[in-house]
Amino acid sequence: MGGDDSYKTGGKTGDKTGGKPNPLWGGRFQEATDRFIERFTASVGFDARLYRHDIAGSIAHATMLGEVGVLTGAEARRIIAGLEAIREEIERGDFAWSVEREDVHMNIEAALTARIGEAGKKLHTGRSRNDQVATDLRLYLREEIDALRGLLWKLQSALVDLAEREADTILPGFTHLQSAQPVTFGHHMLAWREMLARDDSRLADCRKRVNISPLGAAALAGTGFPIDRARSAELLGFDAPAGNSLDAVSDRDFAIEFAACGSLLMMHLSRMAEELVLWMSAGFGFIDLPDRFCTGSSIMPQKKNPDVPELVRGKSGRVFGHLLALLTLMKSQPLAYNKDNQEDKEPVFDLVDTLKDCLFAFGELVPAIECKREAMREAAARDCATATDFADYLVGKGVAFRDAHEITGKAVAHALAAGKELHELGLDELAGFSPLIEADVIEALSVEGSVAARDHFGGTAPAAVRQAAARAREELDGEKQARE
Ligand code: ARG
Repeated sequence: MGGDDSYKTGGKTGDKTGGKPNPLWGGRFQEATDRFIERFTASVGFDARLYRHDIAGSIAHATMLGEVGVLTGAEARRIIAGLEAIREEIERGDFAWSVEREDVHMNIEAALTARIGEAGKKLHTGRSRNDQVATDLRLYLREEIDALRGLLWKLQSALVDLAEREADTILPGFTHLQSAQPVTFGHHMLAWREMLARDDSRLADCRKRVNISPLGAAALAGTGFPIDRARSAELLGFDAPAGNSLDAVSDRDFAIEFAACGSLLMMHLSRMAEELVLWMSAGFGFIDLPDRFCTGSSIMPQKKNPDVPELVRGKSGRVFGHLLALLTLMKSQPLAYNKDNQEDKEPVFDLVDTLKDCLFAFGELVPAIECKREAMREAAARDCATATDFADYLVGKGVAFRDAHEITGKAVAHALAAGKELHELGLDELAGFSPLIEADVIEALSVEGSVAARDHFGGTAPAAVRQAAARAREELDGEKQARE
């Protein structure tokens, strides 16, 4: 990138910019902007990232102005060709961004006039940077929501594959992080997938409110030119023009909503991350991750650390922070546009980057999870984890559940005192707790029997997991087709 780099480094107070007021809005000004103030108020250092959306918005605006006769056809064509050439220049890395031109909008407009002359000065007719920037951000976010949903799709799909692969794998299910009842690993993976499916539907819903066109709201009150707002909205693929010009230029609730969706998503990823970290620790020893997803320690030669899930867990913090930043930015702002809103971009960009990286990382990592099936099964069979099955067995023989619970408690106490598991007590000893107990209790107390019994919609039985995975796969296929 060539040009003036001072937007990155800044200047000092008291140092005037080249002696002349800003050529784009300095008509009423007597002195030049202070160098520091120029850098402080500029946004080009980060909003240059919106150049494609800014140019798309300008092309739609110019097209519409040409159609309604505010611009001549020739002027509109010159503007559009100029903007397209600028886009190529930016993509080649030849565009000279300048902090004196403050933001992406004025950099591109000034470059357009320098390139095509008089017609360039007419592009801003019936428009303001206020509706322009709101349009750009919405176009950007719409595109990124679609990209995020693509990554979310891949991760869900990987979880469904893993659920199918490990439908029979048994591990302890926890409540209070205490071994509670055996579950299948496939069932656990599908629980994660349910969370992500809701995150995806929230993003899809958020997109509807993002996809509204502020163009034509101009500075705040609309414009006296005979513009066609429905047309510019249509050209940009928006669902409709925003219904009120004051609201259109001022509200950033769509970005806050996106941050809220992103926060819920990161909260879910952090929960997955936490379990992966626990499972990989020696105390659990349930899974391993390939070396390529881990790092070592500079001092402890034996270490293999699950950095990827740890980082994802940690990055949830910055995402929640951006939600709070955006809420605070918007809180108490009077109508309509205020410069405060320039502060919306960096949180939104970082949200998008962070979410994309985390989803991509997990999308790669999930298929590589190696289950240590024996260790999981062994842990699942400890801590009298099938005690509920013992009680359910008695209920099956006609005992009321509360009485069955009491009898089972006694059997558990006996087993604990003997340093044994319930299933290790053997038929004779178990039969001592109730005359109803027969040989089939042994199967009921096994971890395999326990999970197989829970064979209903939403249950953990391998058969139920296979059915749930098939339903999830169908849903994902349907979504993919709907998007293509
Ligand atoms: N850079 C500004 C922003 O990001 C563009 C809008 C500026 N409008 C204004 N009236 N100063 O919000």
